[in-house]
Amino acid sequence: MKILDLMETLLFPKNIRCWILILGWTVVIVTSCPPDTKCKRYILDASKNLRVACSGGLHGKFLTGVRRQVRELTLCHWPNSSFDPQIIQFRFPELRNLTLRDSDVSQLKEFGGELKELQELNVSGLRLDSVVDSTFSRLKKLRVLDLRGNNLKQLGHSVLASPPALREVFLSGNPWDCSNDLMWLVDEGRNESMARRVVDRDKMICNNETYPKKPVLPIMGMLKTLQAECPTVPPANCTCHMDYVAPDPDGVTLRPVTTINCSYRGLVSLPERLPSVTTTLLVKGNQISSLKPLVSNPHYRDVLDVFLDDNQIHSIESLEGADWLLNFRVLSLRNNQLTQVLTYALDNALQRNRNAAIVYLGNNPWICDCLFTPTFQDFIIKYRKLVKDIDDVRCASVHGDENSLTQIQALSRSTVCREPSEYLIQPLDLLNGILASLIVLVVGKLIYDYWSFKKTGKLPWLVAKMP
Ligand SMILES: *[C@@H]1O[C@H](CO)[C@@H](O)[C@H](O)[C@H]1NC(C)=O
Ligand SMILES: *[C@@H]1O[C@H](CO)[C@@H](O)[C@H](O)[C@H]1NC(C)=O
Ligand SMILES: *[C@@H]1O[C@H](CO)[C@@H](O)[C@H](O)[C@H]1NC(C)=O
Ligand SMILES: *[C@@H]1O[C@H](CO)[C@@H](O)[C@H](O)[C@H]1NC(C)=O
Ligand SMILES: *[C@@H]1O[C@H](CO)[C@@H](O)[C@H](O)[C@H]1NC(C)=O
Ligand SMILES: *[C@@H]1O[C@H](CO)[C@@H](O)[C@H](O)[C@H]1NC(C)=O
Ligand SMILES: *[C@@H]1O[C@H](CO)[C@@H](O)[C@H](O)[C@H]1NC(C)=O
Repeated sequence: MKILDLMETLLFPKNIRCWILILGWTVVIVTSCPPDTKCKRYILDASKNLRVACSGGLHGKFLTGVRRQVRELTLCHWPNSSFDPQIIQFRFPELRNLTLRDSDVSQLKEFGGELKELQELNVSGLRLDSVVDSTFSRLKKLRVLDLRGNNLKQLGHSVLASPPALREVFLSGNPWDCSNDLMWLVDEGRNESMARRVVDRDKMICNNETYPKKPVLPIMGMLKTLQAECPTVPPANCTCHMDYVAPDPDGVTLRPVTTINCSYRGLVSLPERLPSVTTTLLVKGNQISSLKPLVSNPHYRDVLDVFLDDNQIHSIESLEGADWLLNFRVLSLRNNQLTQVLTYALDNALQRNRNAAIVYLGNNPWICDCLFTPTFQDFIIKYRKLVKDIDDVRCASVHGDENSLTQIQALSRSTVCREPSEYLIQPLDLLNGILASLIVLVVGKLIYDYWSFKKTGKLPWLVAKMP
């Protein structure tokens, strides 16, 4: 009895559940492609509207007469690498949904205004490598646009700004190059609402060798911040470049690694402002003489590498005790006017600095004398792994001096600390002598007074005169 009931329901579907089952089955057929070079049509609703799916092109003689009823069109295995909507827009003026699938289409021609009712355009999974501003601009009712899984590298904001009714856009699965033309994704203001239409923007990935496989939104955000903070205003007129992004120590967020190039800009001082994410600062070939900002300007606190080659730096004394010295990675001072440095301060800092990798000191007019050179020589030899250009650390060029331009690491001490040939009392020695004899005098007088007081009970003259 029960089995008979069941068979009856299956064979003569009367109840709703079975209708749903059959409808579901039809939908499965519709969304898959028909066999080669065939079109299939399906009735969508009571008013005989149609869904049509074609493989290998439009072979739709049988569609004549019912064209106005076609609401949904799926084109599979399109035979051409370019798709020109011209071919459909006069035939199916009432089209609501258009899907192109399983095709090697790389170029999409401009849609005309004839597809007045088109609401959903699905061109995902093709090979589109570009769409121009005007491609979709005349589709007045287009609401949903699926561009997933194509070969798109760039997309100007005007492509999506022009169709007036556009509400949902899918863009993931494309090899985005993450250059400036995607900046609108992180803009504020009018572009912000446009960015929000890209419903899968969190899933967009960069395919840029500089930021391989990194999510688009954080990368564009970092580029935007870097551009906004870049000291581009004259006199600095620097350029800012994001070299790559590294995972933060927390492993979740990304940290940009950047180079700010202010070299050869005729600067007389270090720039006042730097992007908050500056890693490397190039300020070669300027007329900079002071390093104060490295100590006092908070913008410089986390700058790791500073290249100050070819400037007018006479002294790095101002760096003494600076926190910057404890964190820097590269300090390049080649071709400046350094004659001496506070060796103990540098030594002290380098001992505590775990990042320090390179210090360039070459091509400076280093003083070679007995006071400075021996400790400096010890210093550069101790840190020879850091002082990469140790061979260029030479005594200043002094006409007639035998040490002129000699490598300091190889300098023999006896040539800088020669015994003076005749003993001359230096002014400082004289002063020392006088001070020593004065001390002896004062102590002697004290002992004499004490002895005299013990013996005679008389206070010293000066004490007796005191009130
Ligand atoms: C492909 O499309 C282009 C432009 O629409 C056309 O010139 C060309 O003849 C088509 N090729 C084939 C094989 O249909
Ligand atoms: C056709 O487009 C409409 C409007 O965007 C949408 O609601 C509907 O699901 C689409 N149908 C198919 C089969 O994609
Ligand atoms: C577009 O078509 C693909 C299959 O070709 C489907 O997976 C996807 O969900 C469709 N997109 C929308 C927005 O319906
Ligand atoms: C990678 O991104 C940078 C910065 O946005 C851009 O200048 C460069 O052209 C991109 N490279 C490629 C190959 O797209
Ligand atoms: C929107 O983005 C484009 C391109 O990035 C830019 O030229 C335009 O100024 C932006 N508009 C607003 C209002 O931010
Ligand atoms: C800024 O630098 C660029 C390139 O580095 C240069 O072309 C431009 O002339 C400079 N502008 C000013 C005002 O110095
Ligand atoms: C920095 O800018 C200068 C001057 O514009 C240029 O010559 C140099 O190649 C740039 N350096 C880098 C690493 O981009």
